[in-house]
Amino acid sequence: MKISRARGTQVLFGKEALLFEHIEEVFKQTSQGFGFAPMATPIFESSAVFSRGLGESSDIVSKEMYSFEDRNGESFTLRPEGTAGIARAFVTEGLSQHSPFKVYYQGPMFRYERPQKGRYRQFHQLGVENIGITSHLSDLEVIALGHEFLNRLGLMKNCELQINSIGDEESRAAFREKFVNFLAPFESELSEDSQKRLKQNPLRIFDSKSESDQKILEGAPKLEESLNSESKLFRDLIFEGLSQLGIPFHPVSGLVRGLDYYTHVVFEFVTKDLGAQGTVLAGGRYDHLVEQMGGPSTSGVGFAAGIERLALLLEDRATQNLSDIMVIPIHGDLEMEAFKITEKLRKLGFKVFSHFSGNMSKRMKKAHSQNLKAAVLVGPEEIESQIFKVKDFRSGEQMDVAEKDLEKALKTLLSDTNSKK
Ligand code: HAM
Repeated sequence: MKISRARGTQVLFGKEALLFEHIEEVFKQTSQGFGFAPMATPIFESSAVFSRGLGESSDIVSKEMYSFEDRNGESFTLRPEGTAGIARAFVTEGLSQHSPFKVYYQGPMFRYERPQKGRYRQFHQLGVENIGITSHLSDLEVIALGHEFLNRLGLMKNCELQINSIGDEESRAAFREKFVNFLAPFESELSEDSQKRLKQNPLRIFDSKSESDQKILEGAPKLEESLNSESKLFRDLIFEGLSQLGIPFHPVSGLVRGLDYYTHVVFEFVTKDLGAQGTVLAGGRYDHLVEQMGGPSTSGVGFAAGIERLALLLEDRATQNLSDIMVIPIHGDLEMEAFKITEKLRKLGFKVFSHFSGNMSKRMKKAHSQNLKAAVLVGPEEIESQIFKVKDFRSGEQMDVAEKDLEKALKTLLSDTNSKK
């Protein structure tokens, strides 16, 4: 019996894997350009890191964690996100001496969710965190980084930046009271999930997918009306800063985010092209997370993007080819000669694909199917004269090139095909 792939996991191969690498590379370049340094944290952590960090009543902690006891009876969890582990490391690894602490990271995350297009149980995030700065300028910098990253991927025309302030503790406590009082008469009409949230974490009701819940919410008090003056000022500085930086944004008063660690400004870059899984990059400020991990009171702000969702948006776009050239022997007994030329070209920096079976016409077909740009044909005469036949797959032309001119001719051919693309 075959053993199947676990539900909600994926296998990446070929073009898809290349696209992932491309997205990771653009992210790395953008983050480094903003002065962020790479960081990697463990893929599993003590379960308390997440239950404490993300909040017991969050969907992730209450329904989605992959937790297990190890052989020693300790409870561990496969990380559902990156921020809590970074805050934990900031405290336990004495990283607070690095100020400002600006890092970027990437890797697999795990959530037991109902899988569908754009939503998986093992997915991959790219993220940044800036810990230790209270100024709104660090929020602006993180948002500008997210914006620049999506722009470099060519995705900003598909996305809009939605933003909201959920205020500080005091503002949220004031709002919670008004909100719960407003919802009390509707309690029995709310969806089962929202009834639970009403008791544990009322703000999360804004995220309800139920139409009747959303109808009730239409008349609800607005969070922004409960913001105290400090929270309002912080939000206004960010809105003003975004305008000055020329980053368009849409204030959305129901945007609350699903993790409990957020304070003040939260944001999401959202696309209409992925249905219900339209949030491609999301984050916000978290002023108490480091404290919750046992550290001193320290602010933080960051975001994470889902690589799978970015890849879905980019999948129709041509990605770079893995290889450009194939060296093809005319007869089987010239295999080793062709291999030697392949090696020479690779040493010169060309991306050369090799295929060791089939006759010449089969190999030509393979070269076409791999979308290669050129083939170098090796026959007994070519070995003798050291003049090779180079086939340009785009133009269909074939030319004779002396061995010593091969590098130059192939470079011209490849740059021509690149510029014609
Ligand atoms: P999040 O909104 O839970 O935030 O996830 C961020 C992004 O990860 C989402 O916008 C989405 O693109 C992707 N994502 C989440 N769940 C899945 C899934 N099941 N399948 C595919 N993609 C998914 C965080 O994780 C926070 N740690 C972000 C942050 C960093 N806030 C501050 N710093």
